[in-house]
Parts: sequence; C-alpha cells; structure tokens
Amino acid sequence: MTNASSSPSPKSALLIPYSSARLSLPNRIVLAPMSRHRAHEDGTPLPVVADFYAQRAEAGLLITEGIWPHRRGQSGWRIPGLETEAHVAGWRAVTEAVHARGGRIFAQLMHGGRQGHPRSRVLGDVPAGPSPVPTPGPLHVKDGKAEPPVPREMTVDDIRTAIDDHVAAARNAIRAGFDGVEIHGANSYLTHQFLADNTNLRTDAYGRDKTLFARELVTAVADAIGAERLGLRLSPGNPQFGMVEHDPAPRYRALLDALDPLGLAYLHLTDNDDYPALADLRPRWSGTLIANVGENHEPTTQEQGEGTLAAGHAELVSYGRAFLTHPDLPARIAANDPLATPIDMAHLYTHGAEGYTDYPTMEEERERERKREKETATAESRTRVLSGAAGR
Ligand SMILES: Cc1cc2nc3c(=O)[nH]c(=O)nc-3n(C[C@H](O)[C@H](O)[C@H](O)COP(=O)(O)O)c2cc1C
Repeated sequence: MTNASSSPSPKSALLIPYSSARLSLPNRIVLAPMSRHRAHEDGTPLPVVADFYAQRAEAGLLITEGIWPHRRGQSGWRIPGLETEAHVAGWRAVTEAVHARGGRIFAQLMHGGRQGHPRSRVLGDVPAGPSPVPTPGPLHVKDGKAEPPVPREMTVDDIRTAIDDHVAAARNAIRAGFDGVEIHGANSYLTHQFLADNTNLRTDAYGRDKTLFARELVTAVADAIGAERLGLRLSPGNPQFGMVEHDPAPRYRALLDALDPLGLAYLHLTDNDDYPALADLRPRWSGTLIANVGENHEPTTQEQGEGTLAAGHAELVSYGRAFLTHPDLPARIAANDPLATPIDMAHLYTHGAEGYTDYPTMEEERERERKREKETATAESRTRVLSGAAGR
C-alpha cells in the first residue's frame, strides 16, 4: 500500500509508536474532531459515519466530531448526539467498525452553550450560555442562515444540569464502545464560554473564577468514567466566533495546575498566534499532550507535526483537514506524500457519502492513474489505426 520500505528518507517521528500509562498507540497521528453533520434529524449518526471513521482507523487515535451530550446543548442541525438509546446504537456501529480494523476512538462531547439557534435545535428553543451575550452572526440553521439569538443566562441549576448531561453522555459513550471521551473545552463552545472574558460576565462563583465550570465538569466526568478514559480539549486565546481572552496565560496555567493531578488520558491543546499555549503550558502538564497547530491557518502539514514533536511540545499531533481529504494519512506520511487533495467544500456539511467517504487512498489514486493512462493509450492507438486506414 505504501512505498515506505523503498523510501530513502528516515521514518517520520509521527510514525513512532507511543505508550503511556493511559494510552498505547501504534503511531502519533490523531484524527482531530470535525463536525460533518452526517446525522439523522434526531441526532443518530448515519450509517456512513461508521465508514468514515473505519477508513481512518490506522491513526494512533481517532477523536469523533463534536457530539451533543443532551439536546439542551445542541449547537447545529444534524449534529449527532449521545443522549438516547438510538444514539448509543448508532455510535456502537461506529466503534465496532473502528475496532474491527484495529483502531481506537474517543467521543468528543460538545455542548454548544450560546452557540445554537431555535431553527437548528430539536427542542426549537433559544440556547443558554454563561451570560446573555450572542455569538457573532449569521449562523447556519436548518433552512438557511439567521442572526443568532441572545442566549438565556444559565442559572446555577442549569449549570448543574449541563454537568449531569455530560456525565450521562460520557457513560453512554462507554456503553457504545468508545475507548474514552474528550470534553470540548475549546473553539467557543460552552466550556470555553465560561473561560473567556466577553462570554462570562457573571458575578457569581462561576464568573469570579472563570475556571470553576471546567474544573467541576472535568472532575465529575472523570469520577463517572475514570480519569484514564477522559481527555480535555482547550484552545487558549482562540478568537474564533468572537471569543475574547485578554490574558489567557494565568487562567489556563491555573486550570492545568488544578487538573494535572487528576491523571487524565490526555490534554488536547490548540496553539494560537497571540499566545503560544503549547510552549507555555507544556511544562505544567505531566500527562500526554496532543498538539493541534492548524486552527485558523492552512491545514497542518507533515513538517509542522514533526516540528512540534521535535520541539518537545507534545507527544501526539492531531490532524483535521489533511486527514479529512487523505483517509490513509499515516501511510501517506510514511511515503512523504505531498498531501495535495483539496477539500470538497460543496459537500463539507451535506449528509451523504459524497465529499465524505469517497476521498481516495494512494493505492486508489494510482489505480485511477493507471486506468487513465490505459484509456489514453487505447484512444491514441485507435486514432493511429483510423488515420492509417484513412490514408490507405
Ligand atoms: C470541517 C471542520 C469541522 C470541525 N469541527 C470541530 C469539532 O466538532 N470539534 C472540534 O474540537 N474542532 C473542530 N474543528 C477544528 C479541528 O479539530 C482542527 O482544530 C482544525 O481543523 C485545525 O487543524 P488542521 O490544520 O489539521 O485542519 C473542525 C474543523 C473543520 C475543518
């Protein structure tokens, strides 16, 4: 399948197996979570979702797209859930397909908080967040685009419910066969909204200490499923969707100091131009660190991933877009493939296999190339025969 054995270049550091007290992985390439909206309207993943993850099972670790823990936290139409028995059954098909191919897979729990719109939620209601501050618009909704609503301010009961919802969904994830769960504390979703300055204007304990929600949430889910099966994703200072964090360093340092002793499976950290979180926070995290270096930039390259490992910033590197368009990414990295397949933007968030599970492997690309060459040769020889005949 690869020409790695004949390649003169040394083996990429991304392909060296990794083992910790929590994880044992055949390589250091992680599939980054990517929402693709391939769920039924009730949030049950479509059958094609199992194909997508199974195709990428050669990764060291797969992390699913963001999944709502409960419909109260639904951020978008046809994003999957982990609330009902139908959801559990749908995800079981995914984990079985991945395990059958020898892979490992964590479920990302993504509570939207203020992200969401009545026209893109099963409940049809206005979402709630830490404070009544709307996300910048417009938002994609079920039937087009719309201005975001002003979110309802969460009560302390709402906050407890959100934590309970994560706990229940994490248990559902384990029942569905996932190897673990990642809490989405990054990229503007609920946990990030509690951490950021402009989305958490509360004057209660959750506003005075902006790390409180994240600490309570992680502790509750770790108690429920075991810290060794729990990862956390953070993106300190990521300005996506209008998030403002004036001075992320002290806040995230304090958060990691509090969470490091729990012994989580990993921390998944997204770097940022204004605050180099990987370099700053690496010394404060004694466990496994997964780096994501591509957010708000071009897709992460093989060289960037190798550079991150060489700098000692992380043990593992997550790949989003390059893994989306190259289902056999580890094999391509072994072959120093240029990773040139572009994203099929027209089908990024549609609901079928097109633009989802039809990206070719290297072997399929070569097969297509051979077929094309054969067809061209046949056409040329036919032209020669015909022109020869015409000349007689
Ligand atoms: C289509 C798409 C959907 C995404 N959905 C999620 C998501 O559900 N959860 C999440 O944490 N990040 C999400 N991300 C961010 C990626 O995990 C990753 O951080 C980003 O693509 C940068 O990495 P890359 O350069 O390797 O693509 C998404 C990115 C893309 C391109």
